[in-house]
Parts: sequence; C-alpha cells; structure tokens
Amino acid sequence: MDNGKPTTIVIFGASGDLTKRKLVPALFELANEGLLPKQTKIVGFARREKSHEQFRNEMQDGILQFARSKPQAGAKALADFLPGLYYHAGTYDDQESYAGLGRLLQELDGKNGGPANNRLFYLSTPPTLFFPIIARLGDAELIANVYDEEIWTRVIIEKPFGRDLESARKLNRDILSVLDESQVYRIDHYLGKETVQNIMAFRFGNSIFEPLWNRRYIDHVQITVGEAVSVGSRAGYYDRSGAVRDMVQNHILQLVALVGMEPPASFAGNAVRDEKVKVLSALRPIDANQIDQFAVRGQYTAGKIGDEFVPDYLHESGVNADSKTETYAALKLHLDNWRWSGVPFYVRSGKALAKRITEITIQFRQPPLVLFGHGDHEGHVEGDHMQPNRLSLRVQPNESIRLQFGLKVPGSRMMLQPNEMEFCYSDVFHTEPPEAYERLILDAILGETTLFIRDDEVDAAWRYVDTILNAWQEDTSTPPSIYGAGSWGPEAVDNLLAKDGRKWATL
Ligand code: BG6
Repeated sequence: MDNGKPTTIVIFGASGDLTKRKLVPALFELANEGLLPKQTKIVGFARREKSHEQFRNEMQDGILQFARSKPQAGAKALADFLPGLYYHAGTYDDQESYAGLGRLLQELDGKNGGPANNRLFYLSTPPTLFFPIIARLGDAELIANVYDEEIWTRVIIEKPFGRDLESARKLNRDILSVLDESQVYRIDHYLGKETVQNIMAFRFGNSIFEPLWNRRYIDHVQITVGEAVSVGSRAGYYDRSGAVRDMVQNHILQLVALVGMEPPASFAGNAVRDEKVKVLSALRPIDANQIDQFAVRGQYTAGKIGDEFVPDYLHESGVNADSKTETYAALKLHLDNWRWSGVPFYVRSGKALAKRITEITIQFRQPPLVLFGHGDHEGHVEGDHMQPNRLSLRVQPNESIRLQFGLKVPGSRMMLQPNEMEFCYSDVFHTEPPEAYERLILDAILGETTLFIRDDEVDAAWRYVDTILNAWQEDTSTPPSIYGAGSWGPEAVDNLLAKDGRKWATL
C-alpha cells in the first residue's frame, strides 16, 4: 500500500524508553507490512550526542527485543528499515537546535527528490517540553500552514496532557496558538488497542445489543483496569501523579465514553468525538463533602506478586515518605443523561495487584419476577437472587467477550444455573493483534483522528477529575486505605458496591 507522499517522522525524546520499546518497533512493523508511505524517514531528536549509526544500532536492539514479529538479527526487513533512521542531537529549548533539525529535514527531503515532505512530529518527552518544542518548531518554520494542500504537518502528543483542568487548558491554549486543532493528535494508547476499538464495533455493528444498552435493561457497569506491576523505576513521576491522573483521567474515562456514547452519525473523527465528549460532559461532579460515598483511594504496602517481592510504596525510591498519592482508585460515576440516568458506572484501577486484567462488565437487570429456583447440578443454592445476565468485554490479556445467562439444570426440579457463552479472539483470529502504537501512528499518517483525543474531551475529563482530586487534597485527615501488594486492593473498594447491594464480578 502507498499511504501517500514521502513523510518524515521526527521523534522528540528519542533516548526514552517509549521510543525503543514501542515507537520504533511499531514503525518497523508498519514498514515491514508496507503500510508506511514510500521513502519514509525517521529522525530521532534528543539531547545526547550520537551518530546516525549509533542510533540505528540502539533502535535495532529495541526492534530485536520488542517488535511483535520478532525479527532475527540480519533479517532483510531490518536491513531495509534501519537506513531510514537518522539522529539529530539538540537542546529542546534552543532555537539553533531546530535550525539544525530544519537543515537535516531539508537534506532528507532532497534525498526523496524534494520538495518538502509531510512531517509527523512525535512528542515523547516530559510534558513540560510539549509546548516549548511546538513553539520552537513554529519559530523555525517547520510547521506547514494548515491550509497548504500540498503537504501537512501533524503533531502527536503523548500523555499526560496537563495535571489538572487549569494546566490542561493552558497547554491547549498554548498549543493552539501555533497549531490548528486538526494538526494535533493527542494520544491515549488504550484507543489503539484492538479490543477497545471493538467496543464500538460490537455495539454499533450488531443490532441485538444496542436496544438493551440503556437504563431500562442495564443495572450497572463495572470497569476494572488492574496492573500487576508496581511503580518501580517510575516512582518519581508516579508520586506526583497517582492512579486518578495516570489511569482514570485518560484510559478509564475513554472506556466509559465508548461504553456510554450514543451511536455516531459516522465513524469519522469528529462524529465519534462529538458523541464521546457529550458522555464526558455528563459526568456528575463529585461533591467534596460526599467524596467517601463515591471514591476510594488506596496505597500498597509490601507484598508479593507471584514470586516477586514488592516493597512498601512509601519505600520506593522517589516517593515522599509521607506521600498520600493513591496507587489505587475506585470510583462510582454517574452519567446524568437520558440513557444512563440512575445507572452507576463503578471503575477501579490499581498498581501492584494480584493480576493484570482489564475488563468491562455490563450487568443487566434481573427479570421482573423470580419464577425459578437456582443452584448447581447438585442442588446447592447460593444467596437469594439468581445470577444476573452479564456481558464481559475482556480488553486484556486473553481478549474475549462472554455472556452469562441462566440455564436449567438437568433434573426433575426447575433449577437455574449460570453459564457463559464465550468468544476468544485468539481462537477465532489465530493472529496477534497489532500493537496499539502501530494503529495510532498509521492513523496519524493517514489523517484519521477518530482514535485521538480532541481538546474538548481533555477539558471535560479534567473538569470531572478535578472534583475528586480537589476533595482528596482538602481531606488531610483520611489517609489512603492500605492494601498489600499482590492483593485485589483495599477492602473499602468492595463497600463501594456492597452499600448499593452489588458486588464486583469475579475476574
Ligand atoms: C500508562 C500509564 O498510560 O498506561 C502506566 O502511565 C500504565 O502507569 C500503562 O502502566 C498501562 O498500559 P497497558 O497498555 O499496559 O495497560
């Protein structure tokens, strides 16, 4: 496939982990599958001096270790890909570095037969550098006019996008003083995951579920994003962030938006994002006086995940000894709109948990009248209620979709037992899905904005999240609830549902 005119991709933050583990391996896969525009060049930009050759060698290591197709050293695909990599050492806030970058880009345009190529700038740097880089690029005249029909410039911006509503708004204002919104691609890598995209396919590509997808049939929704890793080497960053900023503001609220949105008029970027932003704007702000009814924060103490010992969060290097940063957050959300009024969304995410799992559970209402008994085939009966119908979308790992329903247990009594119908991606498709970054980088090259976050989505998400963060900040008396590393999180998280007569699904 030829995806358009020659394009040069510049990665700022080229010495970082993300570049080596994710971005360059993703570009390699795209090149290998013939999905990149012809003559694509990739330029790494970072502070450290190094030659093009050194950069190629480092990136080769990254590809050998992390690329999905697991190429061998010396493979033809690698030999074809590596010469297209270049390196430019520069200081992020020094205009001269950008003049130098401009000269290199011109030289590369020349190799491609000139004139200027399309340019995709990928900002994989600390967030304080996002705007300084964009401003310098603008001053160096490296950003094509948005009305230019011959070439385009697009900028992918990594997370975190702001640390609260005010800083996110300022960042948006600053960025949009140089770029047009249509040139800005704010990334949330969850949207690049196959199973996350499948939420939309599943809802809007089938006719049987959508009629049930509302307050009349759904009792509540649960979203769990559990991680079995501790904060480890990212402790310094994490302690200034916490689970709500790191996972809820972006990934989890995006999942809420996809589950909660109205059908878009088309799959075009703005049509989908218009619907998502309506959901995010319908999130009911949390009243600081009632924070305990809607939110639980936790922090892990020492424990074991599998065989690995994890130290107390407060002993991780880079963490403040009296830190109150939450490594776990559980929230009860309400969407105040026609479809979801009265249907709570319970969401939770934490580090250092028993296992890595991301799952969305849609729990349907019970039938209006209990006609049957329930139990297992030996007649054991549990609790007062039948198990409800549940639809579970497993985002990762072991990607699957499961539907739980009651079936008659064979025998003379009319007894029901819950069973599952299950679809597993790996059984059906027999191939590994592409990495999120492959899809997202390709979409940015193609100008597809559907899977990127628009400025008003960022705003709406922070508007809600700020109410939680502010309430927690004001509440200096209650420390985060403690949970042992390798457990399922603090007990208080179960109470969040128990007081509504509900339970977390067993994962
Ligand atoms: C990142 C967070 O955005 O997502 C990390 O900053 C987290 O803290 C990661 O570990 C989780 O991503 P995934 O794809 O492993 O679920």
